[in-house]
Amino acid sequence: MKHLLAASDLDRGQALSILDLAEQMQDIQGREVKKIPALRGRTIINLFFEDSTRTRTSFEIAGKWMSADTINVSAKGSSVSKGESMKDTLLTLDSMGVDCLVIRHAGSGTVQQAASWVRASVVNAGDGAHEHPTQALLDAYSMRQHWRGLDGGEVNDFEGRTVAITGDLLHSRVVRSNVSLLTTLGAKVLLCAPPTLMPTGASGWPVEIVDSFDEALCRADIAMMLRVQRERMSSGFFPSEREYIDGWGLTATRLQGLRPGVAIMHPGPMNRGLEISSEAADSIGSLVLNQVSAGVAVRMSVLYHLLGGSQDDTTQEGENA
Ligand code: CP
Repeated sequence: MKHLLAASDLDRGQALSILDLAEQMQDIQGREVKKIPALRGRTIINLFFEDSTRTRTSFEIAGKWMSADTINVSAKGSSVSKGESMKDTLLTLDSMGVDCLVIRHAGSGTVQQAASWVRASVVNAGDGAHEHPTQALLDAYSMRQHWRGLDGGEVNDFEGRTVAITGDLLHSRVVRSNVSLLTTLGAKVLLCAPPTLMPTGASGWPVEIVDSFDEALCRADIAMMLRVQRERMSSGFFPSEREYIDGWGLTATRLQGLRPGVAIMHPGPMNRGLEISSEAADSIGSLVLNQVSAGVAVRMSVLYHLLGGSQDDTTQEGENA
């Protein structure tokens, strides 16, 4: 694999390979010395043209724990703010001999374009409303860990599982990557949103569109809530927050009605009190912080699949020195 640009780039075998290696990587999170030599001598630049907490930090930690040199570049503070084009910025950084560019950009399709310009490997860390493949991978990882916990470690795939994705689907790159990856892995996906926030063309996706949020919750093994992206809304997409909550909010009342074992997910950042109540976000069934934790392990695995050498390199530094 040279790049990871979209969840649809991955076949089932590649996706499972990333999830399996992430399990080994997650062991490192529990060690006192969080360092393996897997990417020693490699240089990774996190190039973020759009804000991020989870993705940028976890890619930086992932690179550092694997002994890569990781550098963060954001639009603010770089020559982008002086008017340098994205292409010139990329060619400049690529000319320095970096091995991997992890890129987030507000424009859908820009990261794919970037990959065609540079010699380095490129990872899409989120482009507009298009794709966020490592988010989908960490979501799938978190689901699998949850189901293994419920089923005593016997169930290791997605067949027969139903994931309901609800919220502002129109502006979401997470929904597109999750639909692609979850269907590749064999899960059924239900989509639920106000009609104004359902992407045009979603009826052609390999999903079932469900009008009633309460019906979606009844059928789901996972309730994945997505953020209302107010910063991308130039006009009213729903009459009021009260009506949004009544129709599509995971409220404390709806939380009480969930079947046992139904897990709650949200990629973050969350609008507490809008698409998800604090009672749901902080409940025993919430995987929100598991998702954050999985983000480091999954991104280690992705970087290793793109840049790594032999499996021996995934042992702790000093173990095989
Ligand atoms: N989920 C996600 O991509 O979060 P950040 O915007 O904080 O990276």
